[in-house]
Amino acid sequence: MQTLHVDLGERSYPIHIGENLLGNTDLIRPHVTGKQVMIVTNTTVAPLYLSKAEQMFSGYQIESLVLPDGEHYKDLKTLNKIFDALLEARFDRSCTLVALGGGVIGDMTGFAAASYQRGVNFIQIPTTLLSQVDSSVGGKTGVNHPLGKNMIGAFHQPQCVVADTSTLNTLADRELSAGIAEVIKYGMLGDEEFFCWLEANMNDLLKREPDALAYAIFRSCEDKAKIVAADEKEAGQRALLNLGHTFGHAIETGMGYGEWLHGEAVGTGMIIAADLSKRMGWINQDDFHRVEVLIDKADLPIRAPASMTYEKFMDLMQRDKKTISGQIRLVLLKAIGEAIITADYDQELLAQALNEHHALPSTRKIGI
Ligand code: NAD
Ligand code: GLY
Repeated sequence: MQTLHVDLGERSYPIHIGENLLGNTDLIRPHVTGKQVMIVTNTTVAPLYLSKAEQMFSGYQIESLVLPDGEHYKDLKTLNKIFDALLEARFDRSCTLVALGGGVIGDMTGFAAASYQRGVNFIQIPTTLLSQVDSSVGGKTGVNHPLGKNMIGAFHQPQCVVADTSTLNTLADRELSAGIAEVIKYGMLGDEEFFCWLEANMNDLLKREPDALAYAIFRSCEDKAKIVAADEKEAGQRALLNLGHTFGHAIETGMGYGEWLHGEAVGTGMIIAADLSKRMGWINQDDFHRVEVLIDKADLPIRAPASMTYEKFMDLMQRDKKTISGQIRLVLLKAIGEAIITADYDQELLAQALNEHHALPSTRKIGI
């Protein structure tokens, strides 16, 4: 097992990463407050891992809540089921909420923990690659609104994160690739060496080689922990973690939540961001090609759906959380490993990049 620390003063916490950590009581106990523990999970994860997770909290008053599975349930109605269960079981403000599952469960449970009785203790047990490398770390919590992704939420840091890499063995291939999109993101936005490592080791990741997975998870969390420690509430550089997300969130909302996986939409969004960066003259054709090839190699879609027209993208992107006074701010690349957030890009080139990437046929392979 390897342990990283997110350094946030009194809100600092450990991220434990390793095989067979589920069931390890010692990792969890120091972070439980009170006597009441609610584990929130879903119908897919519960049969696989709930009983092992419950073992970690033996001796506490444990309630387990099994929610329906899917991004389209990441909404206020489903969130309310958590509050119903907490109130029915008479949980007080010393209780601990535990998220057992992917980013959907993590974001919703975190938001419930942020708002139940104005804030209770929270532990993350992420079980998808995406949640182990990204969503369980950093304290962003929330739900979707029909008009926009993650539009309702709060910052609420967990007390600890336990990423059991063995849980990834049951993950669908498509979900694994979606997680790899966020891994590639770290290389692109600030870690060129990691990007090169991914170019060399993508096949091992897809084959779920334990050493390759463990390295990619550790390095991603390390990169994210540094950014979060420097800018917890996204006053500045944390926005770089949204590389590809302005385009990606538009795809997710525009297609209907769950149609495109979050990581898939982010992967295509990163290609559009790299294309615009190339058109701005900031990165060259070779670097753009490296980005496209790596995302393709991860078995992710490289073209947005044809129904995502320029007009649809622009309408949805106006509502992005980074948009200020109507100006859409984008995360773009100055180089592989160097991203910036800017509203200073050419609108015509943005239109070209969007048209290029929605209009091309939806073939997944690019002849490599
Ligand atoms: P998800 O939570 O929907 O999980 C993907 C699927 O895998 C689900 O069907 C789930 O039930 C299943 N699953 C989970 N663990 C499994 C396992 N071990 N074996 C088999 N199946 C398993 O999706 P996700 O990709 O984990 O997360 C996406 C969400 O995370 C999006 O809502 C996105 O907005 C959010 N997100 C949040 C942050 C953040 O900082 N808070 C960052 C990135 C993404
Ligand atoms: N995934 C974006 C962030 O945590 O800031």
